[in-house]
Amino acid sequence: MKKHIVVLAGDGIGPEITDAAVEAMQKVASLYGHEFEFEHCLMGACAIRETGEPLPAETVKKCLASDSVLLGAVGAKVDDPFINSLPGNKRPEAGLLGIRKAMGLYSNVRPARLFPALAGASPLRKDIADRGMDLVIVRELIGGIYFGKRGGGVDPDMGEYAWDTEQYSVKEVTRIAKIAFEMARGRRKKVTSIDKENVLDSSRLWRKTVHEVAKDYPDVELVDMLVDNAAQQLVKDPSQFDVIVTSNIFGDILSDEAAMITGSIGMLSSSSLGDTKCGLYEPIHGSAPDIAGMDIANPIATVLAGAMMLRDSFGLNEEAKAIERAVDKVLDKGYRTADIMSAGMQQVKGSEMRRLIVESIEKA
Ligand code: IPM
Ligand code: MG
Repeated sequence: MKKHIVVLAGDGIGPEITDAAVEAMQKVASLYGHEFEFEHCLMGACAIRETGEPLPAETVKKCLASDSVLLGAVGAKVDDPFINSLPGNKRPEAGLLGIRKAMGLYSNVRPARLFPALAGASPLRKDIADRGMDLVIVRELIGGIYFGKRGGGVDPDMGEYAWDTEQYSVKEVTRIAKIAFEMARGRRKKVTSIDKENVLDSSRLWRKTVHEVAKDYPDVELVDMLVDNAAQQLVKDPSQFDVIVTSNIFGDILSDEAAMITGSIGMLSSSSLGDTKCGLYEPIHGSAPDIAGMDIANPIATVLAGAMMLRDSFGLNEEAKAIERAVDKVLDKGYRTADIMSAGMQQVKGSEMRRLIVESIEKA
């Protein structure tokens, strides 16, 4: 199989971790007789510094023409004076939002599970963590308050003000709900739809629409949950969740909470897809500019994002498994990067972790 993959390494640790994933995918390609061609494009703070734009038109063109996109992370240091002087639509994050929109990636899938090899890493009380957690957040990605109308000004009474709007259409909710129900069918057959129905009109439409979609999936249980309660339930008993479907902003917040509960945010990856197989795959964690270039970043989430791409966009299940097996093997042997280190394990640098994983990739 021949595939053209765009790499958006981005900022901070992005280049180190995407390099690791590219190397792992290249090893798979050579073992299984595929040809993966990787092309690097600019997005984020690095793009702003070189071109003045967080998402150059050239990058959009290349991504749209590709078979899929691998992303590291975007974002500068929180106290970067140059980046902080930019208006919102010129910030590094605008690059990420722009590429999601341009590629029509409405469905962001973020699995969060407790890895057996990292038992004890969860910040939850042991008896709660022991019940297990294996959930997937299906986050609507190109609608809601992120993309609603916004504005602001100065008013004689209020002073300076700004506003953003949350808006959803039946069409937008229907397509994301379908993804969640389809996914639940292949899992434990439960969908929890999270909204703020007691306050927001957009949430009332969300809930009504999800229930409409549910009629086509009588084999799947549907539970409605208010977002504030969901934040509690996630720490009280995360084992109750199978597939969560929610809006852009609620999904942003809850997926960070869920990732943190696993205690291994450096291990989790996510996919973003629209109506085609051309998707965007990335680690869940951010650009961590404070540790960039120190060779301590954990490349596992990005390597596993590469595996997700092989499976979900290219249908290369065996190849994806070969990468996942290699990661399991290295963890089973006790190798850990600093972020997932625990007593009795062997701490390694990021580059060492990368070498160990690539070496361990074998054809089944
Ligand atoms: C994420 C990130 C982005 C988001 C930022 C970087 C724009 O937090 O992917 O969750 O809010 O969607
Ligand atoms: Mg986020």
